[in-house]
Amino acid sequence: MEKMIEEARIVFQERVLGQIFRMRLSAPGIVSKARPGQFVMLRVREGMDPLLRRPFSFSRIDLEKGEFEILYRVVGRGTLLLSRLSPGERVNLVGPLGNGFTLPTDGAIPLAFIAGGIGVAPLLEVIARVNSGREVRLFYGARTALELLPEDFLDIPGVRVHFATDDGSFGHSGRITALFQEVIAGGGFRPLQIYSCGPLAMQYGVAKWALENRTPAQLSLESLMACGIGACLGCALPSASPEEPGAERFVHVCEDGPIFSAGSIQWNKILAQQSPPPTLAFN
Ligand SMILES: Cc1cc2nc3c(=O)[nH]c(=O)nc-3n(C[C@H](O)[C@H](O)[C@H](O)COP(=O)(O)OP(=O)(O)OC[C@H]3O[C@@H](n4cnc5c(N)ncnc54)[C@H](O)[C@@H]3O)c2cc1C
Ligand code: FES
Repeated sequence: MEKMIEEARIVFQERVLGQIFRMRLSAPGIVSKARPGQFVMLRVREGMDPLLRRPFSFSRIDLEKGEFEILYRVVGRGTLLLSRLSPGERVNLVGPLGNGFTLPTDGAIPLAFIAGGIGVAPLLEVIARVNSGREVRLFYGARTALELLPEDFLDIPGVRVHFATDDGSFGHSGRITALFQEVIAGGGFRPLQIYSCGPLAMQYGVAKWALENRTPAQLSLESLMACGIGACLGCALPSASPEEPGAERFVHVCEDGPIFSAGSIQWNKILAQQSPPPTLAFN
């Protein structure tokens, strides 16, 4: 994996909705090697506050201009400071990191994208690349309408978007995984490949459905990351191997992922580590 350190210039930054921001960065070196599903470790500013870099996925990659975008939610100190930066300022990046999504080689198979909250970010570049000559549907859920990016922002002509909110304030009322199942059960759409990113309980729901229905699924998983380059071992997840189902093995989200197939993770172990345990979709 070829990664580099680069000083990136902020091209623009805008508040899209509530605590969600979109930032465009010029980083020709990193962009020339970037693939959808990969990420950068971004130093929000020099000094000790915050000490660690923060991981962000590529939400758009513009090879021609040598620029990329991130779409992020302000959740703590690092993202708050990031949201206050202005065009022209510079941030230090390490990237591109991780394995990235594998794009479909069959030009016509129908695809489903399943996104929970800000998990829509890494899916946007994949959708842009695969969205012609095939049926593509995006299943996009959030807790409430106030956290849901509007359809015109998504700007993906030809893609049918199914919205869901947990509180029923927009679209289907309930979990996005439930809406996905409902649409499949209704007939007329059957994906042959799934791409997904969102909260762990949602990802588990997607993985369970994919395994039961023998549909390949690529899931972008998150983990707390201190280094992003395989050095701190802080992002380890228990992995599953069909050859040795009982073996204690671990993968590192930063190097082996963040994209994993549905069957490569020991979901029961990860879910048991969550406190409180998440409410599981599909159960
Ligand atoms: C590979 C990868 C790609 C990511 N891509 C994006 C993206 O495109 N857009 C985006 O908004 N966010 C993304 N994230 C999450 C993002 O890195 C964190 O939200 C950010 O680091 C929080 O920094 P902070 O200083 O604002 O918050 P902190 O003060 O560090 O944390 C605030 C709260 O957020 C939680 N948190 C922090 N990091 C994570 C994480 N990785 N997973 C789950 N909870 C976390 C903390 O436990 C804490 O409760 C990604 C994470 C990973 C691992
Ligand atoms: S974040 Fe340090 S090993 Fe993955």
